[in-house]
Amino acid sequence: MDTNGKETRKPATRVVAAGRKPEWTGPAVNPPVWRASTYLYEDCAAQEAGRHVNADGVFHYGARGGPTQWALAEALTALEPGAAGTMLYPTGLAAPAIALLSVLKAGDEVLISDNSYDPTRSFALLGLKDYGIGARFFDPLDLAGFPGLIGERTRAVLLESPGSLTMEVCDVPALAAAAKPRGLCVLLDNTWAGPTGFQALSHGVDLSILALTKHVGGHSDLMLGSVTANAEYYPKLRKRSLMLGQQASPDDCALALRGLRTMDVRLRRSSASALRIAEWLRGRAEVAQVLFPMLPGAPGHELWKRDFTGGCGLLSFVLRGGAAEARDRLIDALRLFGIGYSWGGFESLVLGIHPERDRSAMPWPPADGDPADRHAVRLWIGLEDPDDLISDLDQAFAALKLA
Ligand SMILES: Cc1ncc(COP(=O)(O)O)c(C=O)c1O
Repeated sequence: MDTNGKETRKPATRVVAAGRKPEWTGPAVNPPVWRASTYLYEDCAAQEAGRHVNADGVFHYGARGGPTQWALAEALTALEPGAAGTMLYPTGLAAPAIALLSVLKAGDEVLISDNSYDPTRSFALLGLKDYGIGARFFDPLDLAGFPGLIGERTRAVLLESPGSLTMEVCDVPALAAAAKPRGLCVLLDNTWAGPTGFQALSHGVDLSILALTKHVGGHSDLMLGSVTANAEYYPKLRKRSLMLGQQASPDDCALALRGLRTMDVRLRRSSASALRIAEWLRGRAEVAQVLFPMLPGAPGHELWKRDFTGGCGLLSFVLRGGAAEARDRLIDALRLFGIGYSWGGFESLVLGIHPERDRSAMPWPPADGDPADRHAVRLWIGLEDPDDLISDLDQAFAALKLA
């Protein structure tokens, strides 16, 4: 910290130091698991007084968490300059759902970037409707068109950058600058870069959403989500989250705190390997396009360079022509990449993706491309040696040719 209390330490230092208050860790290095539903008061007066204090750090009842949850929430708040607090959720999907329910009410409308994580889209479209809240999808790359979308009822905009599956980077500061004067709350799913790769609140975001299941967990063995908010929105977020009984298990929070300590080094390794693999993929005749904003020349790279301080090993690539069956043969031939949902773990994953199933404002394949180039693959690059991953991809492309 400098003399004004401004954070000057680098991300690798901050992920090690954050959320380790001695009263929560005791003599242990990392906060241990505090399992409790009931916390006991000394007497009736203390219990009565306790009812009126609703804050992390104050023992009340398990539903408001305990030291393990508070330590994780505090760590995530500390990693996000401008944040007033963080709420935790049992999955990454619960995080945007509850965040939206915190800032919207019946009669309101939210604008949602069309490349948002598909279950978030489904919740917005089908779930919010039941509460009398409207949702409209939009192309976040169309900056000029954005102000015209804001209507009488529009109260919030939900962004995701890079977007799910197709990895478009949007101009978050410009969209936030257009949204704020019109009274909109700006929410961002920041799972791809995380707080060490993109400082969401410093770029105009009010609520920064993370699926902790990915990079913070880091080992493919837990489900968890978080929302970190500025001072304007944290009280609303806290109120709605607790009202809806949202809390995370202390066991999962302890695992997340363990994962957090190595997150910076894992993300650096994973994104460096992904960059090598992205370059290699770009040289393949079978590949029409590599979608990875960290790759110079790839879509979104200039904005990534301007706004981000890091990234991760999640990328997609589009095959040149061919049929969906050929794409599936390529995937099935891979040996080191498991076929599975999610990302952010130590092991590499692959998935055939179908952006056309979840788009209404951003057509897939893109209108300005060759319509034959439509079958795409998503890779999560884990911590294996990138040479081995490239050899695996190489032999899988050979299988594609056999067809
Ligand atoms: C961008 C993004 N946000 C949120 C989620 C939801 O996280 P979870 O799987 O923990 O529910 C995911 C899951 O894949 C995701 O990719």
